[in-house]
Amino acid sequence: MRAGRAGAGRDGDNRYEDRRAGDGEEDDGAAEADQGGARGEPMSWALVAGGSGTIGRAVVDRLAVAGYDVVVHGFRRDTEAAANLARQRGRRAVVVRGHLGGPEAARRVATNALTLVADQERAGGPEPSIDAVVVSSGSGVMRDLADLTERHWRWTLDVTALPLVGLLTALRPRAAVALSSPGASRVVAHYGALGAAKAALEATARYLAVELAPETRVNVVSAGLVDSASARRLPTYEALRADALRATPLGRLVRPEDVANAVAWLLSEDAAMVTGATLVVDGGQGLHW
Ligand SMILES: NC(=O)c1ccc[n+]([C@@H]2O[C@H](COP(=O)([O-])OP(=O)(O)OC[C@H]3O[C@@H](n4cnc5c(N)ncnc54)[C@H](OP(=O)(O)O)[C@@H]3O)[C@@H](O)[C@H]2O)c1
Repeated sequence: MRAGRAGAGRDGDNRYEDRRAGDGEEDDGAAEADQGGARGEPMSWALVAGGSGTIGRAVVDRLAVAGYDVVVHGFRRDTEAAANLARQRGRRAVVVRGHLGGPEAARRVATNALTLVADQERAGGPEPSIDAVVVSSGSGVMRDLADLTERHWRWTLDVTALPLVGLLTALRPRAAVALSSPGASRVVAHYGALGAAKAALEATARYLAVELAPETRVNVVSAGLVDSASARRLPTYEALRADALRATPLGRLVRPEDVANAVAWLLSEDAAMVTGATLVVDGGQGLHW
């Protein structure tokens, strides 16, 4: 399943260095902090579920900097723009679309992703594989619990908590990261179903970290408020934003790039002994009582 990694890595490292040499000042610190090619790690394909989203796009870009070719998943929105970010970094990128709700739908997306990877690799070469998986997809009904129907609950749990299982059992990557939020352990207005689903996601990640070890490391990034389409759907978004700015010791909102850097680190060999962990990226907001 993973036989293609080493070859793809060498090629990838060279292409990345070439691009850097011609790019002058425009690269940010992420390039210097590259966890992948520069250390000679085997790199190949990453799947970013929810790659069309605000955080997903930043993850696609960051993983391309780290040397991955990227399968970019999207559901309803334009996904080519995110794929182009990886191409501009000199990496290959393909787009897979599909609803990610429940393990079966996730397995279908995983199978389609592998087929796309196989199309990109030379015929007769090593078996295609996806080395890293990031689950940045998500959706849910934002209402008080008393106002939720059974259908709302099922949708929120299916789309938020369950795709990780289908993707990881189908792909058996070397490492995976799922995106969670402080609502998994604290109360955020109108966020009850999503909070419960994120708590289930975090617990699922811990179980998978044990059940899929030692081949697959599974971790979670719990991010503070990031300005995005899904965050703005919260009825209390403006108040949450003001609270976050006031209560964050590091003095600003979390940016998509902050999340992407944490994801890249967890996927890298620098995090080789980190599994089943939830890494909080919130500028310290959660430290307050
Ligand atoms: N923004 C925050 O403050 C924040 C904080 C902590 C954690 N997070 C988590 O980080 C992740 C990304 O959030 P974001 O802020 O980047 O949100 P976003 O911009 O709204 O992106 C959500 C992504 O999920 C995909 N998606 C939605 N419904 C789907 C479905 N049924 N099947 C498959 N894909 C679906 C979307 O695809 P299309 O757009 O193509 O439809 C999009 O790529 C989410 O899991 C979110 O809960 C966000």
